[in-house]
Amino acid sequence: MATTDKLQDFDFHGKALDNIFEDYEVMLDKCPVGHSSKYGGFKYIAKSEDIFAAEQDPETFAVGPSMLLPSFGTDMPLIPIDIDPPNHQAYRAILLPLFTPMKIAKLEPGMRETAAQLVAEVRETAAKNGGVADVSAVFARPMPTIIFGRLAGYPEADWPIFDRWIDEIIYERTSKPEVANAASAELMDYFDKLIDARLADAGHHDDLVQKIIEARVDGRELTRDEQLSYCYLLFLAGLDTTAWGIRSALWYLAQNPVAQQQLRENPEMIPTATEEFLRTLSPVQAMARTCMKDTVVSGQEIKAGERVALVFGAANRDPEVFENPNEIQIDREDNRHLAFGGGIHRCLGSNLGRKEIIVALEEFLKGIEHFEVDGGEAWHGVGPLTVRVGKD
Ligand code: HEM
Repeated sequence: MATTDKLQDFDFHGKALDNIFEDYEVMLDKCPVGHSSKYGGFKYIAKSEDIFAAEQDPETFAVGPSMLLPSFGTDMPLIPIDIDPPNHQAYRAILLPLFTPMKIAKLEPGMRETAAQLVAEVRETAAKNGGVADVSAVFARPMPTIIFGRLAGYPEADWPIFDRWIDEIIYERTSKPEVANAASAELMDYFDKLIDARLADAGHHDDLVQKIIEARVDGRELTRDEQLSYCYLLFLAGLDTTAWGIRSALWYLAQNPVAQQQLRENPEMIPTATEEFLRTLSPVQAMARTCMKDTVVSGQEIKAGERVALVFGAANRDPEVFENPNEIQIDREDNRHLAFGGGIHRCLGSNLGRKEIIVALEEFLKGIEHFEVDGGEAWHGVGPLTVRVGKD
């Protein structure tokens, strides 16, 4: 089974995302394991069953040197995402207790208040703007910046600069790597100064940055490089993914007034619908591994040393797992998707990201009586999403 022509340059970033669901159909039908020439060349795995199996086998599919393909503007291994066993577990354990469903439930009232304030801003923006508002800029992006910014302990005065770092490091890294590298250096410097400021400050801080500073692994403190690496990864994992999740759900609902009204009238359906948005419009379409020993997946050889993309976005549309996989069914109950990955690296912030999306949709649908798309914006990313608000 050779890679078809269509998939020889398979890519899961930027403009390639526009029509990626067509690639997935070909992939799942004709070559669920294949080779792409992009980013120095990599093999991809598309089937849900194969990805779950690879996730369970970190000895064959290691995360080092990086899960990011291409990198997030730095070659420093990012903690915990780029760390393999045996060290991974101790790093992950530092923050794991802070992300349990119970801990996240305690954040809900604050989230709701923030979401309601942002909805009021959407209404004000639309009122001043002939009835239209960019709900990505005014709602989907600020929501995780505020929620995660508080939880992580990023000073509020700094929040306005975060979007640029995210855009440059995550979204421009494929087209302008030098811009991503420069932004990466700025972000590392930002955290270096933030840690210095914390060390000089005797006050009490109950947040993620402080947890990282106080953490111990094997009875020792983290080195400064380890602290920076952890802070850097959390920033890039915690903000943009959730913003994409909120924006893509609004993108769908803005075009589907029936589904929109159904969720508005039946908000108890929103958690189930959220899983369906995460499945079909996944904020993380793929993550990389390195093959450590020759192996065979779906009849195809993958050699030791090859880079491998686990294409979660394709697995989430695998017809062997999902009936009518390309249909967004907001009441789909059986939904074993891979939007948060699986195995030992399964998303640490899944309970938080999921809750933020649910609360955002609940408040948005409650506060905005109707909205529809006014432009032809992409389904993916965190770019503008200009919608017409209200019925007139
Ligand atoms: C809807 C929002 C989110 C999505 C779709 C998402 C998705 C993912 C995915 C696909 C992975 C890789 C899993 C794997 O390869 O098996 C991951 C890992 C991770 N995510 Fe998320 N994520 C989201 C939100 C967050 C948030 C809010 C945080 C904040 C703490 C976060 C922190 C992490 C961390 C630390 C890892 C690495 C875990 C490890 O290596 O053990 N994520 N996420």
